[in-house]
Amino acid sequence: MKIAVPSMPGVFQMSADVAVDCLAAAAERGLRAFIVFGVVDRARKDATGSAAVDEGNVVCDLIRKIKAARLPLLAITDLCLCEYTAHGHCGLLAADQSTVDNDRTLPLLARQAVNHARAGADVIAPSGMMDGAVAAVRAALDDGGFADTAVLSYAVKYASGFYGPFRDAADSTPAFGDRRGYQMDPARGVEEALREVTLDIEQGADLIMVKPALPYLDILARVRESVHVPVLAYQVSGEYAMLEAAIANGWLDRERVVSESLNAIKRAGADLIVSYYADRF
Ligand code: PBG
Ligand code: ZN
Repeated sequence: MKIAVPSMPGVFQMSADVAVDCLAAAAERGLRAFIVFGVVDRARKDATGSAAVDEGNVVCDLIRKIKAARLPLLAITDLCLCEYTAHGHCGLLAADQSTVDNDRTLPLLARQAVNHARAGADVIAPSGMMDGAVAAVRAALDDGGFADTAVLSYAVKYASGFYGPFRDAADSTPAFGDRRGYQMDPARGVEEALREVTLDIEQGADLIMVKPALPYLDILARVRESVHVPVLAYQVSGEYAMLEAAIANGWLDRERVVSESLNAIKRAGADLIVSYYADRF
């Protein structure tokens, strides 16, 4: 199964078997790492995101297949509930249904992380901006015998309009409200970003992420100079869609603008870049 994502030309939802072939070919071309996001049918989504903690879900299945095929790829898994909850929020809802219940979400993230590690994931990436997620995941991994599995925290993640196409791809747009209660305010200054990063490193994050990339290069540069762990930048779905839309119209030259964008992210200080162009550039 391979389904095109309309707002992201060149990007596809794939079943695990198709994704394994795709990654095997990419590894041949020199790709060294990938990050996997789970997409499940509407019918399998529920209030608690139970598909997220199912060891037989598509993410665990893909990781097991990749490891069985011994592909030379670092396997990173995105860790969040929003792709699995019917309401599309990144955590369980509080009793009044108006906000996310941060603390009741943590044990679920811990279980999901251990499942991913047991399937063979090398790096677990909590992306939901739940407070204490890094500590909860780290402790669960250590208890489960996965002390060597790394944690990549989406430490600096803004409540951005640039995630729109991803939410089409993962069918994860919140059914009501938005993610401003847990993601960061785009208008706030660098201090808040540095505080988030510090908290996550104290909790045991091995790597940290700034996201989106291009609209936040100033934040990326400041974060890079103030921490001593690898810093990743995520060129998100909207950044990709924006370039591809102009390219499709003949208004921009792909080769040049993709290279300029990725170089800008690199120059600002990214040690690693998560990009939908990774395989092509
Ligand atoms: C899940 C998650 C999102 C993205 C990565 N992990 C969506 C969101 O926060 O709404 C966005 C990725 C992209 O736009 O490419 N929490
Ligand atoms: Zn989420």
